[in-house]
Amino acid sequence: MIRQPKLINSLSPYVPGKPIETVAREYGLDPSEIAKLASNENPLGTPQKVKDALHEAIDRVFIYPDGGAYYLREKMGKKFNIDPDWIFFGNGAAEIIEMAAKALLDVGETAMYSQYGFAMYKVATYASNHRGVEIPAGPGYHQDLDAFLKAIDDTTKIIYLSNPNNPTTTMIPAEELNRFVEQVPDHILIVIDEAYYEFVDNEQYPDSMKYIREQGRKNIIILRTFSKIYGLAGLRVGYGFAHPDLLFMLGKVRSPFNVNLLAQVACIAAMDCDDHVHASVAHVKKEKEFVLKELDRLGLRYLAEEGNFVAVNVERDVVPVFTEMQRRGVIVRPLQGYDMPEWFRMSFGHRYENEKFIRVLEEVL
Ligand SMILES: Cc1ncc(COP(=O)(O)O)c(C=O)c1O
Repeated sequence: MIRQPKLINSLSPYVPGKPIETVAREYGLDPSEIAKLASNENPLGTPQKVKDALHEAIDRVFIYPDGGAYYLREKMGKKFNIDPDWIFFGNGAAEIIEMAAKALLDVGETAMYSQYGFAMYKVATYASNHRGVEIPAGPGYHQDLDAFLKAIDDTTKIIYLSNPNNPTTTMIPAEELNRFVEQVPDHILIVIDEAYYEFVDNEQYPDSMKYIREQGRKNIIILRTFSKIYGLAGLRVGYGFAHPDLLFMLGKVRSPFNVNLLAQVACIAAMDCDDHVHASVAHVKKEKEFVLKELDRLGLRYLAEEGNFVAVNVERDVVPVFTEMQRRGVIVRPLQGYDMPEWFRMSFGHRYENEKFIRVLEEVL
């Protein structure tokens, strides 16, 4: 029998939101009637310009993509006003989270992340056969940066922060993050995961790009993604901004052609879709207001600081609630795996989906 390394063996695999087809099959439902609100996707879908570009590119998929993603890199450099050499791509931001652990953790070194922090930080750390250190959350499920500082020891090599955090929606304000960045020794990498950056509507949100663009720090990477705001989750493209010296190290563990040809074409087209970005932000804002008002009416406690989703407390075991909602055609994400056994996370969908969500939740409770 093959023996797996202990740390990898201790890991529970990442559990994604259930696909519509699976739920339809399991419960004998019509797929078109199911509201999938489990993966923080964009209900407005993929911009038309992107779909047109994908159609045009289909004849070229017999060739390998550009491994360096030259045109995408150049376009993003212009858009974000940063040297293209300071941009790094992954098969989703999730892959960059993994590459950081793979590329940087030496024997005996550890990565830190918050209790209730995005699950991939732990997965990436343990999957690279290294130990993770979970820092207890502060009040209101917030990432407790002072506790991170106190916990830093000789083994600490990576700190993963999520801003805002999935699934708790909690945001780290600029003042707090600035102070933190100043105090972390520069041999420790800080991964600032901003997967929901475009949805944030808050004056206190940090301008994290300045750590890189103005301060030239070599121990910070800022992560973002095309999955959410651009409606491209299925194509898997995430990106990071960081000093080229740091990106050179990550590049050593990158698989060849990790961003496929269609994905590159789609992202280049998506960069011209500001109208889609604005419409998506406005949609989420409106639907968030609607859903929160309804949750207030139901008297439920929730976390809804930032992002295109809300975490809801049902004050009982969430699993039967989740299962019953699924049976009635609404897929949410139960959070027992995050040690939040009475909570689920719901992403804001179309109005008809959100209405169905509220109706079904009310029936089930
Ligand atoms: C906080 C956070 N970071 C990263 C990701 C990964 O995104 P991607 O689809 O780019 O891998 C997600 C996806 O849900 C997320 O919630």
